[in-house]
Amino acid sequence: MIDLTSKAALITGSGRGIGREIARKLAQAGADVVISDIDLGTAKAAADEIASEFGHKTVALAADVSNAVDVAKMFEGALDAFSKVDILVNNAGITRDGLIMRMKEEDWELVLNINLKSAFLCCREAARPMMKARCGKIINIASVVGLMGNAGQANYSASKAGMIGLTKTLAREFASRSINVNAIAPGFIRTAMTDKLTDAEKEKLSSQIPMAKLGEPGDVAAAALFLASGLSDYITGQVITVDGGLVM
Ligand SMILES: NC(=O)c1ccc[n+]([C@@H]2O[C@H](COP(=O)([O-])OP(=O)(O)OC[C@H]3O[C@@H](n4cnc5c(N)ncnc54)[C@H](O)[C@@H]3O)[C@@H](O)[C@H]2O)c1
Repeated sequence: MIDLTSKAALITGSGRGIGREIARKLAQAGADVVISDIDLGTAKAAADEIASEFGHKTVALAADVSNAVDVAKMFEGALDAFSKVDILVNNAGITRDGLIMRMKEEDWELVLNINLKSAFLCCREAARPMMKARCGKIINIASVVGLMGNAGQANYSASKAGMIGLTKTLAREFASRSINVNAIAPGFIRTAMTDKLTDAEKEKLSSQIPMAKLGEPGDVAAAALFLASGLSDYITGQVITVDGGLVM
């Protein structure tokens, strides 16, 4: 069994969806968790629910992770609460889809800032406490479309491919300090993000997936739990796809 007792985890965008399920799984394994989201209401609700379910101290913080000042304050809040950050999950992300000829510059910038710049800002803040502790786990939630592309998602797939490059570079920068940096590339997972798809679109997608179904947030959270644990101590700079076999 994975035991994360006495570990402190910060998960961005964890008020709902995949991030919330990752926070739940880490708390279930014993970790103290910081639930951070741009939406403080959902962050508080998730933190209260997880605290009452597992009896741990949880902290809810509001932060727009594309904003350097917010990110610095978020780390201050996490360090005030738990004195350390052992596990950082860069999960917050959005889509603003459209074919490139019609894609607005503001939609490109918004997606790159929230999905990719955020990971740079959070990793930069995490570097000092993790280097001091000479250990740490950074998990970046990328996407299969960062590996294979997807028509209509130039901004999103570029942000996720960028996240994979960031993961590999930081894995090299931090390896000697026993800080592991890995990415998870989920396929199509049932959350608010994929609720936008019509049933016909979901069926078409499922027909391309060897396991013939969309994934659940818990499927991604299980991979995050493994990467957050000592079981992954000799794994760094990797991308684990959680996609029912879509990319292989
Ligand atoms: N659902 C999928 O099929 C899928 C597939 C591949 C990758 N992903 C990735 O997984 C991650 C989570 O996605 P999800 O499906 O749970 O989406 P979701 O929309 O349910 O959750 C995203 C969370 O991020 C928060 N958020 C948005 N902008 C933010 C900001 N600027 N600062 C802080 N928080 C912000 C939202 O409030 C929300 O709670 C994203 O990075 C997404 O790209 C999702």
